[in-house]
Amino acid sequence: MLSAEKNRTLTQVGAGTPMGELLRRYWHPVAAVSEFDKNAIKPVRIVGEDLVLYKDLSGTYGLIARHCRHRAADLAYGYVEKCGLRCHYHGWVYDEGGQCIEQPFEQKFDPQGRLKKRIRTAAYPVQEKAGLLWAYLGPRPAPLLPDWEPFSWKNGFVQIVFAEVPCNWLQAQENSIDPVHFEWMHENWSLRLKGGTGPYAPAHLKIGFDEFDFGFVYKRVREGADESDPLWTTGRVCLWPNAFFLGEHFEWRVPVDDENMLSVAWSFIRVPKEAEPYEQKNIPAWTAPIRDTQTGRWITSHVINQDIVAWVGQGVIADRTKENLGASDRGISLIRKQLFKDLAAVAAGKDPKGLVRDVKANRNIELPNIGRKLYTEGMTLAQYREHPFWSRLLEDFRWHYGQPEEVRREFRRAMGLEAESSRRPADR
Ligand code: FES
Ligand SMILES: [Fe+2]
Repeated sequence: MLSAEKNRTLTQVGAGTPMGELLRRYWHPVAAVSEFDKNAIKPVRIVGEDLVLYKDLSGTYGLIARHCRHRAADLAYGYVEKCGLRCHYHGWVYDEGGQCIEQPFEQKFDPQGRLKKRIRTAAYPVQEKAGLLWAYLGPRPAPLLPDWEPFSWKNGFVQIVFAEVPCNWLQAQENSIDPVHFEWMHENWSLRLKGGTGPYAPAHLKIGFDEFDFGFVYKRVREGADESDPLWTTGRVCLWPNAFFLGEHFEWRVPVDDENMLSVAWSFIRVPKEAEPYEQKNIPAWTAPIRDTQTGRWITSHVINQDIVAWVGQGVIADRTKENLGASDRGISLIRKQLFKDLAAVAAGKDPKGLVRDVKANRNIELPNIGRKLYTEGMTLAQYREHPFWSRLLEDFRWHYGQPEEVRREFRRAMGLEAESSRRPADR
């Protein structure tokens, strides 16, 4: 349980709030590179700030305030130039540093550009990595954008899935360190959703948590297993401060504002050995629906959708004054404690947990990973088909509902499945 005041402290993300300042110390994924194949401008709202992300005609990305400094037109409707973004209202242009570099009409009367020189809008650095575009809204010097090892794995098909979720980011992140929910919310609930009544999945017998540089590891022992199981010896990763790493996919819970978050999933699947070498030219990105438009109910069929039902079910901002934490919630208490420590560190002018500033250390940073061997060495198609988990991923993108048909086709082509689907329709 938290006091109302502590709950507010942990959930407010705006500029000038303690948590808002802490979250601004980290890079956040806000868009996918492939989105800019079709549109040069994407409106982005992050930690309560309305911004536009654009790619100009020279290929430079900029992330600047959404409203023009002249008379506040919406730059999401601007157009990009060789350098910078032009407002569609009177043609002012801003570069990626936020400087106004053109004022077409004013320049006739003010050849020295006095007005232009003093117009600067908010602008933040952007970096490209792993098919994502990352933003940093904190004080300089910015830390390094972490180079997680999976970002350079070869022979894989990656896709990026966004979901706009109407709740505060922290309740999603608390789900990143909650081992027991897996048994009830994914395994047993999925069984019931499909009409089964049992038997239920092996129960959790024991859970454990370890801290490491980039977050916390959670571990579990379930019925039928013991402490030699990799789910205990290696565990899963609650990645600091707002992400989850499952071995072949990351999920970031990006704070949009106090009441909304953007779920960003980056998912890798190694192609079968027969399809190697495979080089992915373009990482597709799509936005997943989370609500059934016919019934108005949340979608419950896929893993992350089920998680989302839990997050939004807790309310727009979970009221932590009313909760009753038990033994299954030790991880939740741990991360809250760490967040308060980080708030104190930032208030004292120090770095919070998990920042990377050493260039030499920022190469293929390895995270605890149960499936590393498979993702880096691969399997044959026959092995995939026999595998209790991976065989299902060949046929359906289990993480999110709503994978577009063209992404499914691309995936099947990469996996060497498309050629056989015409021969073996029963496999679908
Ligand atoms: S409002 Fe943007 S140029 Fe006038
Ligand atoms: Fe989950």
